[in-house]
Amino acid sequence: MNGKVILMTGATSGIGQVAAESLASMGAQILQIARDPARGQAALTRLQTQQPKAAHAIYYADLSLMREVKRVAAEIALAHPHIDVLMNNAGAMFGTRSVTDEGLERTFALNHMSYFVLTACLRDLLIGSAPARIINTASDAHQMGRIDFADLQSETAYRGNFFETLRYGGPAFKVYAISKLCNVLFTRELARQLAGTGVTANCLHPGFVATRFGAQTGGLISFGIRIAKRFALSPEEGAKTLIYLASSPGVAAVTGKYFHNCQPLQPSKAAQDDSAARQLWETSAKLAGTES
Ligand SMILES: NC(=O)c1ccc[n+]([C@@H]2O[C@H](COP(=O)([O-])OP(=O)(O)OC[C@H]3O[C@@H](n4cnc5c(N)ncnc54)[C@H](OP(=O)(O)O)[C@@H]3O)[C@@H](O)[C@H]2O)c1
Repeated sequence: MNGKVILMTGATSGIGQVAAESLASMGAQILQIARDPARGQAALTRLQTQQPKAAHAIYYADLSLMREVKRVAAEIALAHPHIDVLMNNAGAMFGTRSVTDEGLERTFALNHMSYFVLTACLRDLLIGSAPARIINTASDAHQMGRIDFADLQSETAYRGNFFETLRYGGPAFKVYAISKLCNVLFTRELARQLAGTGVTANCLHPGFVATRFGAQTGGLISFGIRIAKRFALSPEEGAKTLIYLASSPGVAAVTGKYFHNCQPLQPSKAAQDDSAARQLWETSAKLAGTES
């Protein structure tokens, strides 16, 4: 990875942090987008210790706000004309419904729209950097997701009902599952659109990993996840597929796939629906104002 430039989100914690540090130790230059200056600075210091020769850099943005995603993408594009790998990895699950001042439900905004908008803003730069790779962190939770295009902002989904609570363990997980289905569908359509450009797009499930994920969700869900984490993978184990997709020559030409344990895996039936993938793309582009 000597001399490779990797742009990552969600690298201040969990699997992203481990992946960033491992890839830096292989010689890569890591550019991060973080939201919190103290956590961002700590992450940068760790990387500089790991690989002092590379000019690692950090940029700040709240990725649940699309104007922030666009601003930071423009700053990065100006400073770094070449990017080998874009890793969309930041994500969270929110216990109660909240809407950003841009009118987007927060889970959908952070987990899907930030991936969509950051990629759209850097698309030409990545094509100009080809061969390049885009990696989206999805989840096995996508298996439970069903997209209702009439309720993309989850007004109904967050209300839930008794049976849904039994099925999903609560509306927060249902909304999270939908956002992760969006990651797989987005990757599918992105790979289709980028065919022949030398830029690949793949997504992954890292496994159930003991990270800070779920800590901010609140209530019983945070409690349940805290207990379940005793049986979860370590962040080092969870980061393996991310690192593999960013660095392995074996996947240089592989695109449009969903990976787990460094192997391609069939995603759910809903995640293989090409017309849903196209509809999600068109709707996201309208919401983001990135239609061409
Ligand atoms: N852990 C699991 O079992 C699991 C399973 C399947 C999929 N995943 C997925 O893996 C990805 C990484 O999660 P993780 O498990 O490593 O969790 P984590 O330790 O909570 O890390 C989440 C990362 O996202 C960043 N982030 C959250 N909200 C943000 C915002 N508004 N703007 C900018 N950055 C933001 C966090 O920044 P701060 O450091 O500032 O909080 C942190 O770097 C997520 O997409 C998650 O859905 C996790």
